Amino acid sequence: MTIRKMAAKAAVKKAAVKPRRTAVKFAQRPAIRATVKMSAPTNSAVRKNGGFAELPPPSTEPWGSLGKALEGVRILDFTHVQSGPTCTQLLGYMGADCIKVERPGVGDITRGQLRDVKGADSLYFTMLNGNKRSITIDSKHPKGKEILERLIKHCDVLVENFAPGALDRMGLTWDYIHKTNPRMIVASVKGFGPGPYEECKVYENIAQCAGGAASTTGFREGPPLVTGAQIGDSGTGLHLAFGIVTALYQRLRTGRGQRVLCAMQDGVLNLARVKLRDQQRLGHGPLSEYSQYGEGVPFGVAVPRAGNDSGGGQPGWILKCKGWETDPDAYTYFITQAPVWGPICDLIGRPEWKTDPDYATPPARLPRLRHIFNTIEEWTKTKTKFEVMDICNQHDIPVGPILSMKEIGEDQSLRATGTVVEIDHPIRGQYLTVGNPVKMSDSITEVKRAPLLGEHTEQILIEVLGYSAEEYAAIKSSGAVTPSEKKETEAA
Ligand code: COA
Repeated sequence: MTIRKMAAKAAVKKAAVKPRRTAVKFAQRPAIRATVKMSAPTNSAVRKNGGFAELPPPSTEPWGSLGKALEGVRILDFTHVQSGPTCTQLLGYMGADCIKVERPGVGDITRGQLRDVKGADSLYFTMLNGNKRSITIDSKHPKGKEILERLIKHCDVLVENFAPGALDRMGLTWDYIHKTNPRMIVASVKGFGPGPYEECKVYENIAQCAGGAASTTGFREGPPLVTGAQIGDSGTGLHLAFGIVTALYQRLRTGRGQRVLCAMQDGVLNLARVKLRDQQRLGHGPLSEYSQYGEGVPFGVAVPRAGNDSGGGQPGWILKCKGWETDPDAYTYFITQAPVWGPICDLIGRPEWKTDPDYATPPARLPRLRHIFNTIEEWTKTKTKFEVMDICNQHDIPVGPILSMKEIGEDQSLRATGTVVEIDHPIRGQYLTVGNPVKMSDSITEVKRAPLLGEHTEQILIEVLGYSAEEYAAIKSSGAVTPSEKKETEAA
């Protein structure tokens, strides 16, 4: 093909691609959208072309000017509390149109939980539901069921994290959804996968305990500990988002949706996989990187809690810094990485340790780690955690200040990258949220405030689902999208 012909072909493809982006944005779409024709090349075609069978020519438009990665993907967001909302917020950050379905007059329970500003949606809710639109629908009302059926026809993915069986009890079984829209992906978070506990309700800390994280967190002498990072909820939401995006990709070939399930127990275990590694290693002898090895404390049958041990081949610990007596976060994490042992010895005033056979090699240091860290701490206590960071980094010594949430909230570099974002909210005023932790050069995230309860009900019914103004009025008076009088009385 000549260059001219290629350019002409590219121009035709580009013209075909461009209106598609605007066409799918917020306009009405038929069930299986003709505007977003998902071609279904065969597996062999995909293999032959290295997976690039149907791609347009590489765009030369400026980076970030061609919309967002998931633009055109519409999510029926039936999530609540934290795990599911984390997932759909991430998809929203990537440009998906997330339509959050909430119970009329009630909404996601977190709207009212841990409330700090009277009458305003809580931070619990607003920090997990940015970049979404809210529609209220009573899913058990006959008219509500009809609206949901239309939504299923107009969306690509249904995401939910109800207790086991709740979606089925609404009549939204997989068979029904798949028959109504064979392209729909149905993605669920549950506490446990199939097995003895599959019917159980699960919250964050239960998942941390059942996924193996708690038994391996904490100090040897103390009880199991849960961690502040929400690895059960947000961690599983993140796994689910990955599952959804890959299912969308597979749909390009198969043309059909599928079920995606992430059990919180599985998500936590995936994050704790190094501890299952250690469990197996334990069968072949003690774990030399655990400080209890150097201290001569025998191992039991299961992976023990390792305190602040680094868990890798390079010993590390949390050490006090200047001000620790009054500031609970005046600490640094310090790693005695082998290649920089020499600079460490010089810095802490122990140059003789560089050649002393008791200290010169990593195996020789193992039984002396506590003494070594105590000695390093005598040095770190004379510096602030930020001074330790500055000095050590000049010598490539890996250290990290223990940052408080106050410090993180005020950190200008996190603001500059959009990881911490200040948002305006019509009722609560300004609040901070965590923006998109994934940065993409061609899909630039705009963080938008969380919606008020039912803020977009009318817009979605009319603009997305195609109801007329008269039909909308009838829906409103039917009680399918408004709180029942009984509920209002209860709330008052
Ligand atoms: N209209 C009408 N009813 C609605 C509705 C709507 N728009 N949205 C939800 N409901 C109903 C559900 O149908 C369900 O009713 P049913 O049990 O009578 O069938 C009910 O609200 C409550 O749902 P449920 O999920 O059971 O909420 P819960 O508050 O009792 O339990 C969890 C909360 C988180 C424990 C539970 O949802 C769960 O285990 N989820 C899976 C694991 C998970 O995600 N956990 C982490 C949460 S961060």
